[in-house]
Amino acid sequence: MIVRLNRYLSMCGVTSRRKADKLIEEGRVKVNGEVVRDLGVKIDPEVDRVEVDGKEVKPPRKIYIILNKPCCYLTQLGKSQSGKKTIEELIKDVPERVFPVGRLDYNTEGLLLLTNDGELANRVLHPRYKLPKVYLALVKGKVSKNTLRKMKHGAELEDGFAKPDDVRIVRYEGDNTLLEIVFHEGRKHIVKRFLASFGHPVIKLKRIALGTLKLGKLPPGKWRELSQRELRQLFSAVGLKYSS
Ligand code: URA
Repeated sequence: MIVRLNRYLSMCGVTSRRKADKLIEEGRVKVNGEVVRDLGVKIDPEVDRVEVDGKEVKPPRKIYIILNKPCCYLTQLGKSQSGKKTIEELIKDVPERVFPVGRLDYNTEGLLLLTNDGELANRVLHPRYKLPKVYLALVKGKVSKNTLRKMKHGAELEDGFAKPDDVRIVRYEGDNTLLEIVFHEGRKHIVKRFLASFGHPVIKLKRIALGTLKLGKLPPGKWRELSQRELRQLFSAVGLKYSS
């Protein structure tokens, strides 16, 4: 991959692209031992050695984590305008900067994938790969067998038709029902809107799987890196080959 020098410096986390141009103009950037002042210069990170102020810069290592997002955290980095807590504070100790792949609602819990690998993130979100997202949804009321059958056939929502890949009753909890529901699409509030359209508003929602990834016993608020095996499976599910 050939990239412009300023882009490479920002990819490596040195600074923004604009500030990288300034570093280049100031003669602080060397490529293969030579000072470069031309802003249009392109480099091949596989072969070229880039230094800033005499120190070699390299792209951060690729990192892939899952977080068990608890209720009442916004899926965003940095501070929120509203003063609500954000997932940023749960991933402070992740050794590289990562960004969330998709989002969970403020009050949705469960599996959130975060990475600094843009290509993998794009594929996980791309509808072509149809990655199933499995949710446990506690809904108000007792879902009848008849309603369950109708759910399986889908429903017209305000932004078009929606049909789960699967939906089943896990158990009744008093007057409410715990459902397991699978969607591969990622429209906003899809699970809540879909279930509410059958007269069963969601009380609690938790994502327990994304493609080949399972939340397992990861405690709420905790994160962990994916294993080599999980990475191989995930990469393969989106048509990529994983090499460690
Ligand atoms: N569907 C929803 O309604 N909310 C989520 O957070 C995820 C899927």
